[in-house]
Amino acid sequence: ALLQEAPKPLAGRTAIVTSGPTHEPIDPVRYIANRSSGRQGHAIAAALAKLGAKVTLISGPVTIADPAGAETLHVETAEEMLQVVLSHLPADIAVMVAAVADWRVASAAGQKIKKQQGEAPPPLFLTENPDILKTVGHHPQRPKLVVGFAAETQDVETNGRAKLERKRADMIVANDVSPETGVMGGSRNRVKIITAGGTDEWPDLTKDEVADRLAALIAARLG
Ligand code: CTP
Ligand code: CA
Repeated sequence: ALLQEAPKPLAGRTAIVTSGPTHEPIDPVRYIANRSSGRQGHAIAAALAKLGAKVTLISGPVTIADPAGAETLHVETAEEMLQVVLSHLPADIAVMVAAVADWRVASAAGQKIKKQQGEAPPPLFLTENPDILKTVGHHPQRPKLVVGFAAETQDVETNGRAKLERKRADMIVANDVSPETGVMGGSRNRVKIITAGGTDEWPDLTKDEVADRLAALIAARLG
């Protein structure tokens, strides 16, 4: 039998995907981070590559393997992730899935901080990290399609729509990441697709299925 070639609607397109957490050092042995397995972001990079896109995946520290079909670059901090993302513009598509740490320690210690007998724990002075999605959304070389995620534990649609506008994204994939949903660290996801035109609720799917549907939607939007 003749094998049918898979259709490649994203052939000739370039895509940047961020995934995983970022680690923000407190000292050489300790860090601040968000929870993130990288499973959804990595699956999206693979799904875009399957549709023919040239994909650069920029990942924070994760334990899962690099996905097939994408070039994977590993970074540690939000500032490093931003620099690598900006160095890959221009691109046709940006999908920012990383759970970027919102804050970093204002001045990380160069040596391991030691516990001091009988003394109070050291305070942490935090400063805000750059917003990578917002920077890309407002960039002079803004990709044609900018997609963000919104990890919420309440008011998912309202908060997601606010992020769509504030970050100048074309699409926000909003999900409820409350511990009881099992989304964080799990293999399934239930998302709402928020665009200027309205909100579409997708059923409970595997993260691979969400990735395939999102890649197909991106291909349709790019025409
Ligand atoms: N994001 C980013 N850089 C940051 C923070 C978030 O690129 N410093 C991106 C995420 O990758 C995601 C989207 O912005 O695509 C929303 O992330 P989220 O953490 O849900 O939103 P925040 O704007 O950080 O707001 P908050 O955490 O207060 O809800
Ligand atoms: Ca955040």
